[in-house]
Order: sequence, then structure tokens, then C-alpha cells
Amino acid sequence: MDFSTELKHTIRQMYDTAAQKPGGLLSRIRLNRGRELLINLGYQQSDLDRLPAYIMESAFPCGNPLPTIRELQPKTILDLGCGSCLDMGIMAADQNHHRQRLIIGVDFSRELLRLGSRFISFLPVNRIQLLAADLTALPFSTPHFDCISLNGSFNVIYDKATFLKQISALLRPDGHLLINDLLLVEELPAGFTDDVINWTWNVAGALAPENLEKLARESCLSLVHFHEHERLTPVCRGEILLQKRK
Ligand SMILES: C[S@@+](CC[C@H](N)C(=O)[O-])C[C@H]1O[C@@H](n2cnc3c(N)ncnc32)[C@H](O)[C@@H]1O
Repeated sequence: MDFSTELKHTIRQMYDTAAQKPGGLLSRIRLNRGRELLINLGYQQSDLDRLPAYIMESAFPCGNPLPTIRELQPKTILDLGCGSCLDMGIMAADQNHHRQRLIIGVDFSRELLRLGSRFISFLPVNRIQLLAADLTALPFSTPHFDCISLNGSFNVIYDKATFLKQISALLRPDGHLLINDLLLVEELPAGFTDDVINWTWNVAGALAPENLEKLARESCLSLVHFHEHERLTPVCRGEILLQKRK
């Protein structure tokens, strides 16, 4: 098995297991999670009040993309690595933003998707779809989306150059790619990225912001903003917004 296949296998198993455990992935670790984690990441109380507890417990975001998405007002959104539909669920329930016409979520963890579909089946909207698929082999071929969001799923992609090219091709001209993840602020120890386990927590796959911008430029994507939210040396938690050049 090559490294990229081993990584996907490990990640999928980890999130499938997390979805089935009460208390989720971090049940044995003393960290903020559930509602407390989401509030720390900037999610609004009023948005969280719309979510069932099991969605907050099975959410693993790296940031809160919703303020940027609300500002952009996309009509078609692709949430890659949507997990149990935290962001999609809040967007779908958002009465003030009817301009969102279609939201598609993709993930390969069938257990997280099972929780997500249970949740969205109760929402009074029908333009929301869930798809079980590998992000590196997406079943789309046309530039259909106004916004593609990755909340915690970019760093676990092994070949980021190819991936960026593939997803840039799915954006409409002027469409946006929004990445919430960890970014490198210091070099990682030698050998760190050789261990698949160091990838599962989004650290080994982190890029320095300037390297991510360079890769993005090669895929016809220009930087709109980079916001650093929290320093966790050797990485920081941040949001990168890129725009598809015409
Ligand atoms: C850190 S979690 C974030 C989940 C969700 N965005 C949230 O905020 O709760 C990363 C997600 O990406 C998914 N994922 C990672 N690599 C993937 C791949 N190659 N194909 C499909 N899904 C993938 C995982 O199954 C997991 O649900």
C-alpha cells in the first residue's frame, strides 16, 4: 500500500470509529469539544442552538467558515470533508441566506455521513445533497460551484498540487476556495512527515501560507485573504480564501 492510500485508510477508519463512540474522537483526551469547542472557534450560539447535540459531538472543524461564506453569498457550495454536516446544516437552516440554492457535501466516512443524513432529513430544505466519495476522485467534471469549502480536510490530502488543480477546475470563474486548517509557522522535526499518525491530526500535512499560495497560483487561484486565528507552534490555525482567476 502506498503512503497516500495508507493515509486515506487510516483517516477513514479514525473518523468512522469517532462517529460511533459517545464522546467522539477526543473522548479520552481532556480538550474542549462539542459546543465548547465550537464556541471557541467562533460559531454563534444562535447557530449552535439549531444543531442536535450529536452533531456538535461529532464535529471536528478547524475553524468557522460561515462568516466568510455568508459574506460571499454563493449559490452553489461544495463542502469537501463535510463530516456529519456541521457547516452544511447551519447553512441550510440559515433563513437569512436564501441565495444558497444548492449545497453538496462529500466525505468518505460513511459513519459521519450517516449522522449527517439523519440531521439533514429533519431540515425543511431539499437543495442539500450528501455524497460518499474520496475527495481525490470526485465525480464532478464541470465548473459548477461558486464556493468550495474545506474545514479540516485539506491537510490530510497527500498530493496537494494535483488536488488543487482538480478542485480549481470545479469552480466557476471568480468562484472561491475556502480552506480552514493548520498552517506551518515553524519547520517540523526531521522525519515527522514520514509517520502516517502525524498526518491524522492535520499537522504533518500543514503547509506554510506562502507555499500554499504558490501551489494555489499554479492552479489559477489567487489569494484573497489569510487570517491567522490561533498560534499553536509549530502551526497556526487559520483561514485562507482563494479566488479562481478567469
Ligand atoms: C477534521 S474532519 C472535519 C469534518 C467536518 N468538516 C467538520 O467540521 O466537522 C476531516 C473530514 O475529512 C474527511 N476526509 C479526509 N480525507 C478524505 C478523503 N480523501 N476523502 C473524503 N473525505 C475525507 C474525514 O472523513 C473527516 O470527516
